[in-house]
Amino acid sequence: MKILKYFGLLAAVLTAAQTFAAPQRIGDFNLIDEKGTAHQFSKYAYQNALVVISQQNSCSTNAALFSEYRILQTKWDNEGVSFVMMNSTVGDTPEKLRNYDNSFNVNMPILVDDTQLVAELLGITKAGEVVVLDPKNMSILYRGPMDTPGSRGTPGTTFLKDTLAAAAAGETRNRDTVTVDFEAPADCIIDFPNAVTSADDVPDYETEIAPILIERCVVCHIEGGIGPFAMNSHQMVQGWSPMMREVLMTKRMPPAQVDPSIRHFENARNMPIEEVQKLVHWINAGSPRD
Ligand code: HEC
Repeated sequence: MKILKYFGLLAAVLTAAQTFAAPQRIGDFNLIDEKGTAHQFSKYAYQNALVVISQQNSCSTNAALFSEYRILQTKWDNEGVSFVMMNSTVGDTPEKLRNYDNSFNVNMPILVDDTQLVAELLGITKAGEVVVLDPKNMSILYRGPMDTPGSRGTPGTTFLKDTLAAAAAGETRNRDTVTVDFEAPADCIIDFPNAVTSADDVPDYETEIAPILIERCVVCHIEGGIGPFAMNSHQMVQGWSPMMREVLMTKRMPPAQVDPSIRHFENARNMPIEEVQKLVHWINAGSPRD
């Protein structure tokens, strides 16, 4: 691990600690953007990289950097790099995001991470953070700020540019995940009210998880039901947990989900946000019995 100090763009003194670690693999996810279009990570596999810029309506860093985002996008979108923003902020509704889009002319989809589970998956804690994903190998290549220009004898940083160059050259297989820490202003910090930060926060199987499964899944996932397995014991549910997390993160289950702010189906089976969070947090913790 190398430590590097530089003077930041936003007139604050930033300390960047940069780490290289074994490639961090991630599962698939599917999010709807502010206009109602679905974006599934694995469907970007024809691209060399997917750049996710974390966004929050109040974040001054995002507002200050729009021209930089545009320069980056113009430079790399011919090289097989796709760009999206992602909003994981409670209260930044799709309608507010459409207004934001109108005022900043964002020019990329803003994915609505309403469960905050994709931010947790990608390790995002603040808006302005940029994550570069490898959609072919399903891994994280880079997590950190935009590159910073050098000034007065201090070198700039080029971690982001270096990552994108490697991706464009098809050289990302087993590439280390590069993480660059940086400080963000208070208006960019994302609040995670339901995050699981200690063992005490893990939802309880009997009182919290089982009732959700009974209400949302067991109608089909029962002995003789149309689902391919029956959720009839803790052991069964635990065994299927990785698959359950995948279908929840990609919104395949429960079937027939629609974006309530865009369209409405009579029989839509949208699950409340807190229920999806509880199930995934419980699975992330290893699907414990108690
Ligand atoms: C309306 C019936 C129905 C409901 C409700 C339902 N499922 Fe399913 N589920 C199915 C069917 C049918 C399949 C097999 C076809 C498919 O994979 O789409 C399936 C498949 C699955 C699979 C296996 C996927 C795979 O690729 O093998 C998992 C895991 C799963 N469901 C989890 C859940 C969870 C978790 C819930 C509740 C949040 C749920 N299901 C609710 C009908 C349902």
